[in-house]
Amino acid sequence: MVETKTVKFDKPVVNGSVKVPGDKSISHRAIMLGSIAEGRTVIKGFLDGEDCLRTIEIFKRLGVFIDRIGTDVVVESPGIRNWKTPTEELYAGNSGTTARLMLGILSSSTVTSTLTGDESLSKRPMKRVTIPLQSMGASISGGEYLPLTISGSMLKGIDYTMPVASAQVKSAILFAGLGADGKTSVRETAVSRDHTERMLKQFGATVEQDKGTVSIQGGQVLKGTNVTVPGDISSAAFFMAAAAMIEGSEVEFVDVGLNPTRTGIIEVLRKMGAKVEIVEQNGEIGEPYGIVKVSHAPLKGIEISGDIIPTLIDEIPIIALLATQAKGTTIIKDAEELRVKETDRIAAVTEELTKLGADVEATEDGMIIKGPTVLSGAELKSYGDHRIGMMAAIAALLTDGPVQVEDTSCIAISYPNFFDHLTKLVLNGDQE
Ligand code: S3P
Repeated sequence: MVETKTVKFDKPVVNGSVKVPGDKSISHRAIMLGSIAEGRTVIKGFLDGEDCLRTIEIFKRLGVFIDRIGTDVVVESPGIRNWKTPTEELYAGNSGTTARLMLGILSSSTVTSTLTGDESLSKRPMKRVTIPLQSMGASISGGEYLPLTISGSMLKGIDYTMPVASAQVKSAILFAGLGADGKTSVRETAVSRDHTERMLKQFGATVEQDKGTVSIQGGQVLKGTNVTVPGDISSAAFFMAAAAMIEGSEVEFVDVGLNPTRTGIIEVLRKMGAKVEIVEQNGEIGEPYGIVKVSHAPLKGIEISGDIIPTLIDEIPIIALLATQAKGTTIIKDAEELRVKETDRIAAVTEELTKLGADVEATEDGMIIKGPTVLSGAELKSYGDHRIGMMAAIAALLTDGPVQVEDTSCIAISYPNFFDHLTKLVLNGDQE
């Protein structure tokens, strides 16, 4: 049964403080590294979302003990060389991060297993990962897409220049390199999120980083450790945009991740004219985090292209909505990667914003949005894509009539309590 929600507000203002759930990328990596390592890892602030739960289930099938108490997770692992061969397939669900990073990890393990995914994931490109892994000697059989069968083997280090800026590809190669013979180097054209590099160090590995090249020496044994996951800035981005667009709004985000490879949204909000204040920046817990306050101010259209794109790739759907409320033209370029996300996000965003009355044109590698436009209620689809679903719900803050969002269950992939937070911020706004 597809869950459809009607979202309607009467001249809303968003106000108050919110602690968004844990970062999805960091939560995946904490389970992965905790399972590769020997011993006990305790994770605090883990994202209890569908994608990360798929990662947990996979490692349980590989013989790793994992226990969850709310957002605390305990991982007890015998280490990657002592995993057991799973008796069932390893199902990655909708999660591209799980699938691609697992390809790298499983390639250098001692087990044989088959990775599968849901309908959307089974159409997403895997060659970007299997090609470099096979050049390290990985044994991966199947075609271009999941399902793929991986027989763990002894790999050799490579020096690889990535054709696309992708943290998933970089991480898969680094994980494979950790168990390989010799040194593995990955060269990036634009810097993508560096959570894997940071967390490898937290688990005791030596990682070299030099001008866009990350290197790891094979044969390092990791030891379990404690990890604290900050709030996901990609989830906060939906309410940051809401606060920026709606007059009288101000929202504070507590303990939100501020890793510079992820904060492109803050730069964009500021450039468009919104008020963004980093109230407090806390010391590193492997990852920088802090308190951020966003408030409304008149917005203007800008160009978003080049090296900033990987730092805000997941935020582009909500940035597109933001651009409909900005004066002038917003041009988003160099974002062709959006075509191969959970859905083709360029096509999906263009189609759904058009239904609301926005002036938006899709290009091969982005969108051109003219604003400001008055948006009207409409029947929108999520395409089973959490970020499109949340964008559609946030759009309802701007429309006169209701916005009906078809298929909202996917929002639980990254933000299970999204609607609770939305209601809370609007109710606070009412009371002001
Ligand atoms: C992710 C990397 C990005 C991002 C995805 C999570 C990660 O994908 O869009 O949501 O955790 O490494 P790409 O590596 O395909 O850019």
